[in-house]
Amino acid sequence: MKPGPRRIGIIGHGAIGARVAADIAAGKVKGATLEGIICRSAIDNAPAPQFEMEHALGRCDVLVECAGQEVLIEHGEAVLSAGVDLLATSVGALADPHLSQRLLAAGPGRLFLTPGSIGGLDLLASGARATGYDAVMITTTKLPGSLIQPWMDEAEADRIRNTPGPIEIFHGPAARATQLFPKSLNVAAAVALAVDDWDAVAVSVRADPAAELTTHLIEASGNSGNYRFEICNKVSPQNPRTSGVVPFAVLRSLELIIGARGGMI
Ligand SMILES: NC(=O)c1ccc[n+]([C@@H]2O[C@H](COP(=O)([O-])OP(=O)(O)OC[C@H]3O[C@@H](n4cnc5c(N)ncnc54)[C@H](O)[C@@H]3O)[C@@H](O)[C@H]2O)c1
Repeated sequence: MKPGPRRIGIIGHGAIGARVAADIAAGKVKGATLEGIICRSAIDNAPAPQFEMEHALGRCDVLVECAGQEVLIEHGEAVLSAGVDLLATSVGALADPHLSQRLLAAGPGRLFLTPGSIGGLDLLASGARATGYDAVMITTTKLPGSLIQPWMDEAEADRIRNTPGPIEIFHGPAARATQLFPKSLNVAAAVALAVDDWDAVAVSVRADPAAELTTHLIEASGNSGNYRFEICNKVSPQNPRTSGVVPFAVLRSLELIIGARGGMI
């Protein structure tokens, strides 16, 4: 690793990427400089030049994906093979075992996953390492409109959109949840990766018109203990599918991986 500040590239300039880019450009991440932004649309008043992936690979030490699963599918391996570290937010992409194996085997760049909108993954991973779990359950509750998906037919979309009260719209395994709700169920992937067992994690997705806060109830029981985390996040003003805290989780992850500070990990 060359001495000097880490050169950071951001992929995506929406609710997450714009704040991450702005804070790095403003010098709020010690030891990092913003080299450029990759985005499929033009950015007004960008805090750094827009560039293409091929240029980013020669100029960045770390790329931060804040764009969507398809970026990890299309570019993840090439980024890591070029020796560039990759910090991913769209961790649901790893529900595909083939992609997951390829990315985890690729290098010399290192793949990092931000915990994003949830916490407790460190303890879940510790318990998994100790003894594993008998059962892991995530119950996610969001505003109905943020859960409508392109694969739903009009009747199903209307049923969800107009529900007068809370309804369960999915119950099943974590991998399926992240595939069906790719922009909303990254948390299911994060928990499955933390416990290192996709089959052990069941997911319930609920649409609730009164859900001003996005709620993730994570419950795990096993020989190391019983864990229950309830996370209630305000949604991002820029994107109701995304919790407002996520850009700050990404900034924190970035500080940890570039070694800018010690402390809690
Ligand atoms: N881990 C978590 O807790 C968590 C939480 C929320 C979102 N996410 C992930 O983060 C992603 C971004 O969330 P957001 O709220 O910022 O979304 P957003 O829609 O507000 O912004 C996405 C940005 O990425 C750009 N983009 C999309 N596809 C691209 C591509 N192929 N190449 C280059 N740029 C591309 C868009 O133009 C836009 O600027 C989501 O798709 C989701 O997968 C993760």
